[in-house]
Order: sequence, then C-alpha cells, then structure tokens
Amino acid sequence: MARVNHTYESNYFFGIGILNNVNELNIGTLWRSAYILGASFIFTVDKKYKQQGSDVTRTWTKIPLYHYNTIHELKSNLPYSTRLIGVEMTNNSIPLSQFEHPERAVYLLGNEQIGLSENVMKECHSIISLPGNFSLNVAVTGSILMYDRVTKLQTVFPKGTN
Ligand SMILES: C[S@@+](CC[C@H](N)C(=O)[O-])C[C@H]1O[C@@H](n2cnc3c(N)ncnc32)[C@H](O)[C@@H]1O
Repeated sequence: MARVNHTYESNYFFGIGILNNVNELNIGTLWRSAYILGASFIFTVDKKYKQQGSDVTRTWTKIPLYHYNTIHELKSNLPYSTRLIGVEMTNNSIPLSQFEHPERAVYLLGNEQIGLSENVMKECHSIISLPGNFSLNVAVTGSILMYDRVTKLQTVFPKGTN
C-alpha cells in the first residue's frame, strides 16, 4: 500500500452558519466572507437560504451549503472530532482575543433580533464574543472572527491572495 507522505497547505477546516437568520442581505454577505476566508462549508439552522445578490461569489456553488432543522440536527451531524463554537455576547463568553481556535471548528451565529438562546448555547462547546457594548451586525461579526481564525492559525491561501 502506498504511504501518504503528502501534507496539504492547511490541515484544518471550519464551517460557519447562522440560526434563523432574519435579514437575507446579511447571510449573503456572510457567505461571501466565508468563501473568501477559507470556510469548508456553510450552513443554516431553522430557516433555509434563499439566493441573495449580496453573495457575489455564489458561495453555494463552490462549497457545500447545508440546512439543519434544529440545533440538535446540526449537533448530531457535526464532523468527527469538531467543536461547535457559539458566537454571542454573554457575561461568560470567551473574548475572541483570548480564544484559541480549534483546528476543526463549526461557528454558529445568532438571529439578528434575538441572538442565540440559552438552550442553543448549552449545546455549544464554547461561546465566544467580540468586544463592544452593543452588538455588531451578524455578517460583520462572522467576518471578523474568520479573519481572527485565519490569522491565528496562519492559514496559507493560494499564492497572490494574501
Ligand atoms: C445583531 S446580533 C443579535 C442582537 C442581540 N441579541 C441584541 O439584542 O443585542 C446577531 C448575532 O450577531 C452576533 N454578534 C453581534 N455582536 C456580537 C459580539 N459583540 N460578540 C459576539 N457575537 C456577536 C451574534 O451571533 C448574535 O447572535
């Protein structure tokens, strides 16, 4: 049997998604950032995606877009040995600046009006927050956290793109 000697430029992966998204423009912007910043897949929970002009990269044509009906369905379909990271402002959230991103992670953002509920957060392995006393736009939040991840994990992008 041949040995697997080859190592890939990045041996990590992440997915990012949103629960019960309200503003469709936000989700398109989030998908666009996800594709550009190296997500392996994107997903929705509770509400299916309708195609948006704000996703100029048509991300769903490039990486898988999954839909889960509930947080439990998402959790039972997590990739093997992968952490579910909730993104929400709470008193107990880990500040993003101090967070060590797991090599394999799935990031879950909340609904624009009500955020992630306590019950949903209980299902997550960690909860992280970005600084500020008022919530950011959800697509902005996702974009900043993905930038933080690719910077901390020193993700290598194809030549000429970073
Ligand atoms: C606009 S916020 C939700 C509104 C929030 N529940 C409120 O009442 O202020 C939508 C989502 O963006 C993300 N978000 C926004 N600002 C954040 C922050 N500073 N830290 C972590 N997540 C944030 C969370 O995922 C949140 O569920």
